[in-house]
Amino acid sequence: MPGVVLVGAQWGDEGKGKATDLLGSRVDHVVKFNGGNNAGHTVVIGDEKYALHLLPSGILSPGVVPVIANGVVVDIDVLFEELDALEARGVDVSRLLVSGSAHVIAPYHRTIDKVTERFLGKRRIGTTGRGIGPAYADKISRAGLRMWDLFDEKILRAKIEGALDQKNHLLVKVYNRRAVEVDEVVEELLRHAERLRPMVTDTSVVLNKALDEGKNVLFEAGQATMLDIDHGTYPFVTSSNATAGGAVTGSGVGPTRIDSVIGVIKAYTTRVGEGPFPTELFDDKGEFLLKQGGEYGVTTGRARRCGWYDAVIARYAARVNGLTDLVLTKLDILTGMEKVPVCVAYDVDGVRHDEMPTDQTAFHHAKPIYEEFDGWWEDISTARSLADLPKNARTYVDALEQMSGTRISAIGVGPARDQIIPVHDLIHPR
Ligand code: GDP
Ligand code: IMO
Ligand code: MG
Repeated sequence: MPGVVLVGAQWGDEGKGKATDLLGSRVDHVVKFNGGNNAGHTVVIGDEKYALHLLPSGILSPGVVPVIANGVVVDIDVLFEELDALEARGVDVSRLLVSGSAHVIAPYHRTIDKVTERFLGKRRIGTTGRGIGPAYADKISRAGLRMWDLFDEKILRAKIEGALDQKNHLLVKVYNRRAVEVDEVVEELLRHAERLRPMVTDTSVVLNKALDEGKNVLFEAGQATMLDIDHGTYPFVTSSNATAGGAVTGSGVGPTRIDSVIGVIKAYTTRVGEGPFPTELFDDKGEFLLKQGGEYGVTTGRARRCGWYDAVIARYAARVNGLTDLVLTKLDILTGMEKVPVCVAYDVDGVRHDEMPTDQTAFHHAKPIYEEFDGWWEDISTARSLADLPKNARTYVDALEQMSGTRISAIGVGPARDQIIPVHDLIHPR
């Protein structure tokens, strides 16, 4: 012990990569437990900037054992592209472990993801097109392929045949695409099997042993609370459990092994893709956040939708994840704003809601009720303690902490590793 879970508290891109990197030197294992290469995490180390997708951000910390656990869906080509690219930059990737029970993203999952979105037209989700949803759909309907299957060609072929029996009807008859050949898929998936074999293991055994030995294990979520399949803004969500519970089912450790749950949250809000977003801005303030915050997706390059901080979402994230700590990021981006509004509750058809409405219709109708804070002009990017913050920034941070009901344990004031204000130790016993 301790087992530390780190999740996104909003709609993703809160700065989870940077927060993981912050803890990197103090943890032994960093575990990715959900999602796949739909994620995009940025880590800035000195003059070097890394973008990680399928690999846990902890792979950049020397000595850390990076783990892709059973809850992840793995695109094997992407895995090796990312590993090769990191290796070419001098990163030691040799310790990576991959769960044999993790599911495989097959080429037909990518195809189905893209054609489904096209077919949905204006009802689309705005997915990353990486095959994530269809791979998880096959997992749940028991038609998926697992990493273990790659080492038994007979089983692999039989499973692909079974999957394509159905999917080719869908592709040809509904989507007007060509049928996928079994041989093509088998060949593509087996291309890297030998290289993969030494990395694949039962990662649940490894992680439980590490926890038994008193090592620090960090479980790093992809995506975020509001994109969680159960607790997010369904159906505009991703297809996995990105909340803290996912760390447990997605890695094969029990809930009693988790000591703390860190929620990473931006000082404002962004969202990529479609779906409701009550505090979204369509004016020059939104443009300011987009430009100042460099809010462009790391995976798809799409401009992120920007809006004010939403304390209803913060409270909701605290509740469904059982947050013990918050890491507040990108406070520096708000510098120069005359006023900084915060959504404190919603007005839904004339009724005030202090809690997040999980009914889709209500959330679509939610109008933010704002409380305004005075802005600040001072450059805070060099602040390294709370005392370095101007009064108005401090008031803003204190208000967010009070509204969310969770202590703010670190504050990001820039993308670089050292641009952080530590407030409380992030690794602590329960
Ligand atoms: P993730 O998906 O949660 O890991 O986040 P992303 O990497 O997609 O997006 C976060 C962006 O904000 C990245 O470009 C980070 O380098 C950057 N970032 C993280 N923390 C801070 C911060 O405190 N201030 C500023 N200005 N940038 C930050
Ligand atoms: P990180 O880990 C932001 C969004 C997509 C889309 C929806 C479903 O960097 O925070 P999917 O391809 O997962 O089926 O798409 O989820 N989405 C993300 N948005 N950050 C992410 O990851 C995301 N991963 C998926 O834009 O709306
Ligand atoms: Mg991201």
